[in-house]
Amino acid sequence: MNYKVLELLKQQDGYLSGEELGRKLSISRSAIWKLIGKLKDEGYEIEAVTNKGYRLLNENDIINESEIQQNLNTKYLGKKICCYDEVDSTNNKARKLGLEGYPQGTVVFAKRQNAGKGRMGKNWNSPEEGGIWMSMLLTPQIQPKEAPLLTLTAGLCVCKAIRKITDLDAKIKWPNDILINGKKVCGILTEMNAEMEKINFIIVGIGINVNISSFPQEISNVATSLEIESNKKWKRKDIIKELLTEFETYYDLYQIENNFSVFLNDYRKFCITIGKNVHVFSKEPFDAQAIDVTNEGELLVKKENGEIVIVFSGEVSIREKKENL
Ligand code: BTN
Repeated sequence: MNYKVLELLKQQDGYLSGEELGRKLSISRSAIWKLIGKLKDEGYEIEAVTNKGYRLLNENDIINESEIQQNLNTKYLGKKICCYDEVDSTNNKARKLGLEGYPQGTVVFAKRQNAGKGRMGKNWNSPEEGGIWMSMLLTPQIQPKEAPLLTLTAGLCVCKAIRKITDLDAKIKWPNDILINGKKVCGILTEMNAEMEKINFIIVGIGINVNISSFPQEISNVATSLEIESNKKWKRKDIIKELLTEFETYYDLYQIENNFSVFLNDYRKFCITIGKNVHVFSKEPFDAQAIDVTNEGELLVKKENGEIVIVFSGEVSIREKKENL
């Protein structure tokens, strides 16, 4: 109900009296006053003037169900939104919801993660506010071996959303790091709940550094944010909505038309790894040249002896060799 009050305040140019709000929502003025209090607790600035009523002062950078779903034209992605002040990891939270039977398209957001997870068992720095820490719950009709493509899809969609909203030159480092000017602005961690041949659900966790003005010294040479790159603060909801819309479009192409080629062509356009000299960290590390991304989303590389090898994202990480930098 408090979001209904919010919607009415947004629609109003000037003040809206408690009486008028109460009449529109068929509740008492004191109930309205309580709901206004809840909105203020969430961070909205609402002015209250005697004999005039309430007025929403500015559009804050607040993430909640109402802000995300306003003008969101997806069919299922983001139709169920769960927001938390603090969780260990949005991926863990989404996993719990998945086990409880929450529907495909549920998206979890948190202001803070106290144990944000990165790839390869690393931590993910998730300071309060400023970032987008989110996880999408999906139940795709694909084979477990095709799941990495969903991670790549998320990477492409983040890249496109950042480009569209901010005009910054975001690029993808295979498999799914998003870089701006060579520094990482987003990371993606996909986790699966599956049996041998059947996926029960997949969690695609996305962390985007948006309005973050500095990083701890140990990562400041590799990490960046949209704010640092543009000297500007952004509305996180704009990026989220764009991302959800893009993701649902590609995801439907797989599910309904079994069409991965549109996605792969788009992915290749933004992938800076292709053509670069890379160092592959596997059991036996080696240097190679990245040639292409296969139709399954793996990286095709050419070793120094000419041998062509496929690199799987889950098994290795890659580093560009110094001469590329
Ligand atoms: C990486 O190492 O690049 C992956 C980082 C993934 C971070 C996101 S933040 C939201 C979601 N919850 C987590 O615990 N991790 C992912």
